[in-house]
Amino acid sequence: MRVVEEDLLPSTPGKVKVERPGTMSRHLHRCFASTGTMFLWALFLVAMTATYLSVHSFVDTSSRYFTASWGGLHWERQIRSSASPRRPPGSAEGAGLSVLVTGAAGFVGTHCALALRRRGDGVVGIDNFNSYYDPSLKKARRALLGSHGVFVVEGDVNDGRLLAKLFDVVPFTHVLHLAAQAGVRYAMENPASYVHSNVAGLVSLLEACKDADPQPAVVWASSSSVYGLNDRVPFSEAHRTDRPASLYAATKKAGEEITHTYNHIYGLSVTGLRFFTVYGPWGRPDMAYFSFTRNILQGKPITVYRGRDHVDLARDFTYIDDIVRGCLASLDTAGRSTGTGGKKRGPAPYRIFNLGNTSPVTVPTLVAILERYLRVKAKKNVIEMPGNGDVPYTHANISLAREQLGYKPTTSLEMGLKKFVRWYLSYYGYNRGTHTFRNS
Ligand SMILES: NC(=O)c1ccc[n+]([C@@H]2O[C@H](COP(=O)([O-])OP(=O)(O)OC[C@H]3O[C@@H](n4cnc5c(N)ncnc54)[C@H](O)[C@@H]3O)[C@@H](O)[C@H]2O)c1
Ligand SMILES: *[C@@H]1O[C@H](CO)[C@@H](O)[C@H](O)[C@H]1NC(C)=O
Repeated sequence: MRVVEEDLLPSTPGKVKVERPGTMSRHLHRCFASTGTMFLWALFLVAMTATYLSVHSFVDTSSRYFTASWGGLHWERQIRSSASPRRPPGSAEGAGLSVLVTGAAGFVGTHCALALRRRGDGVVGIDNFNSYYDPSLKKARRALLGSHGVFVVEGDVNDGRLLAKLFDVVPFTHVLHLAAQAGVRYAMENPASYVHSNVAGLVSLLEACKDADPQPAVVWASSSSVYGLNDRVPFSEAHRTDRPASLYAATKKAGEEITHTYNHIYGLSVTGLRFFTVYGPWGRPDMAYFSFTRNILQGKPITVYRGRDHVDLARDFTYIDDIVRGCLASLDTAGRSTGTGGKKRGPAPYRIFNLGNTSPVTVPTLVAILERYLRVKAKKNVIEMPGNGDVPYTHANISLAREQLGYKPTTSLEMGLKKFVRWYLSYYGYNRGTHTFRNS
């Protein structure tokens, strides 16, 4: 399945190298060149024909299989059922939304999809289940969504045919676009994956949205990282965002400009949300609070970065439930898109909001809280932060979101980490085998 998808999509973020079918014919060719008799010529031609036929039939079956993985009447029925709002008729909150959530098997996507479903909105998810971090966690999130009646399609947002089909089957009122290549440091290892998902994937999604009739309103995740080298605090939406410190940040900034053009030309209603370090249950294993927890429990050392002049790094950690409320409020207040048939009929809203917690906490404080809940002392390696794209400090000014979305974060890092640790231990177990063994 993985091989098939990677062969059919333009460029891929995967860490796995795929052996292409052409390798075999190259071997045959080399083998032939060293001999040179008529007999081998004939043999070679037979072999080439065989190779051609087998490659041809491989491509043929695989594309049929690929289509089969998302088409068909049964599939369409599942999509429609998942997309149907289930609010009681005449409910005070109105008829209910029908939302396409991209990156639905991701951390924020899963929580948002669940929250929408719980209040009676229709939700369909899409996710490519890439292996940037352990896909089994993504599959477990999908299983959780499935148990609540949310269907998640396995597919890439770069697959325009799939997106067109989804809009064909369901007139989505909203798109919550959270699919992206996240992570600041991984951009130096695999820059192409950021272009694939955050630039090409975003454009592919916006194309599908502007072609859809009716056009949905789009709410999507930008990032606090767009503030880059900005050192005015707290960060306000009006501050400079033209000095990104990482490729990740640059692709998010590009996304803000790209969504602006789709708003301007096609009348798409756009809301960009600059999330500030989101954490919580079902979180992302590549983030510090998560890997610190794992390493502390396993008795392994953790690396704590420190800024220049021995200044501690600090982050405006924002608890997932607060972010979810901000996302839902954005969907609820998003004005309509105004376009049809590739033309706008009038101006549509374009909004950008910070979603943070407005109380930065230093990394050593984060570690101390984890140590307390885990009842294990961390082995800390404190080193100076390498110049790899991380910024020393983030702090959100959230007055705009408070005013326009009624956004009001309520979870302190202490409370939020308590809930995270409880989830971590129930999901992974204490996982202290190596630790206890080594000490006994
Ligand atoms: N978690 C944070 O602290 C944070 C901070 C700022 C911004 N964001 C943004 O919020 C969004 C959600 O982040 P998250 O923490 O849930 O990350 P995540 O990695 O858990 O979720 C993203 C999901 O998108 C999927 N995906 C990636 N590329 C795809 C593609 N081309 N097609 C289909 N699916 C694809 C991944 O498989 C993953 O499940 C992202 O856009 C991220 O950049 C997150
Ligand atoms: C926060 O942003 C608002 C504008 O959205 C601004 O009026 C206010 O002064 C800012 N607050 C701080 C403390 O910078």
